Amino acid sequence: MTLQFSLGPVTPETVETPCVVVGVYENGVLTSAAARLNTATDGAIKQQIDSGDINGKAGSVNVLYAPAGLAARRVLVVGLGAQKTFDAARYQKVCMEATRALGRLPIETAVSFLTEVDVPHRDVTWRVRTAVLAADHATYRYTATFKPREKPATPELGAIQFSGGEDAAAGLEQAVAIAEGVRFARDLANLPPNICNPAYIAEQAIQFAGRHDAVTCNVLDHIEMERLGFGSLLAVARGSANKPKLVVLNYQGGGTDDKPYALVGKGITFDTGGISLKPGPGMEEMKFDMGGAAGVLGAFVAAVNMRLPLNLVCVVPAVENMPDGDSYRPSDVLTSLSGLTIEVLNTDAEGRLILCDALTYTAQTFQPQVIVDAATLTGACVIALGKHASGLMSKHDDLAAELLAAGEATLDRAWRLPLWDDYQTQLDSGFADVANIGGKNAGAITAGCFLARFTEGQRWAHLDIAGTAWDEGRKGLATGRPVPLLAQWLMDRV
Ligand code: BES
Ligand code: MN
Ligand code: ZN
Repeated sequence: MTLQFSLGPVTPETVETPCVVVGVYENGVLTSAAARLNTATDGAIKQQIDSGDINGKAGSVNVLYAPAGLAARRVLVVGLGAQKTFDAARYQKVCMEATRALGRLPIETAVSFLTEVDVPHRDVTWRVRTAVLAADHATYRYTATFKPREKPATPELGAIQFSGGEDAAAGLEQAVAIAEGVRFARDLANLPPNICNPAYIAEQAIQFAGRHDAVTCNVLDHIEMERLGFGSLLAVARGSANKPKLVVLNYQGGGTDDKPYALVGKGITFDTGGISLKPGPGMEEMKFDMGGAAGVLGAFVAAVNMRLPLNLVCVVPAVENMPDGDSYRPSDVLTSLSGLTIEVLNTDAEGRLILCDALTYTAQTFQPQVIVDAATLTGACVIALGKHASGLMSKHDDLAAELLAAGEATLDRAWRLPLWDDYQTQLDSGFADVANIGGKNAGAITAGCFLARFTEGQRWAHLDIAGTAWDEGRKGLATGRPVPLLAQWLMDRV
């Protein structure tokens, strides 16, 4: 079940709810909502601070049950850390911890005053949007491939009301739209590759288009792509029994003559490496290699939900990379849709091989005003930036600045890497126009440089989300990144 969210002009001491949520800083500093509760309860909160039960450490949680003097059954006191250093990232973290704590209580609804907490350089719209997205994120459960469970005996959290008036309504509306996009991306990416294959992704896109009047979907199959000359994409696809699809979604929210924004996402539904086979341990994580596809589809969902007044196309090459008697091989020379020939030196550098044809198709078919691609493209990007920042590459400083700003605004952050032509010689080949790998140095950048060869003349940026699209470990889930960044970037354009 997904959480329901609402806003209301509520008062902490008189609101009737199973649980009211307020924040306290370290060193006994109360937020104004906490101070009001403290007064109404004759000092119940201060008392727990004095006893050391409540320490105010960031993300800590304490429940007071049925304190006298309040209409609420419980108070959830959430630690905000030191007031001096309180910032946007801390606010987001605290909102998540508060929601997790609510989820552990036997209650169905709660009222939160965290949206009243002052966050430096952020307005109430941002606070509400961030609180709602954090709550939705924290309560996300992957259930698709478990045996259906019986209805739980204890009540489950189903709705949260946040303190806020009319001025915050836009934040709630945006958050609900974006949260659906994030969930769409996470659900798709979390599915195993025996379910989420290229045809499945295409089917999800078709069904989404069917639910929205302003959206159309067109899926190219391998025969159509053969006819058009997708020689690079089809080479990657050849080893798999699951035929490739090129999924094209079109949203007409702007004028008929407005050039569209274009999003392109890497949709490798499973990456074995192909003939350049990956090692066994950790290979299961390569089900997330369609994280870019999930991300751009999620951003598309968010944009459509917000009814943004712009035109948007979303192009997803969906392909499985498998070893087989018919697989492409190292030393093969492919002719891409652009006409450029590519020497395959490693079949595990397959993402760029499907993206180059998708990018060419997008540019030729839609003449977009800008293209942004998202891809779990390189392990090298994870080495460079870790799991916190996506890698951003673009030759267009203004576009890079827009995307970095959208990342900062949503805390779905990216960090720019250079895309200088100095790196291009690493892709030189003796047998084709370009090689598909550039050696061990600067692997994330040379992958970007490869894509740059296919986007000449386009206003284009590339997001390498190899580190950010999912959480590490056996139980690591898809994060839904970069849906918040992309959705914010599109919002900022209108
Ligand atoms: N999907 C992988 C990149 C990847 C690896 C993402 C680990 C997340 C975690 C991509 O297709 C790949 O295999 N890239 C190779 C490129 C190399 C052969 C030049 C890599 O990063 O090792
Ligand atoms: Mn690979
Ligand atoms: Zn891959």
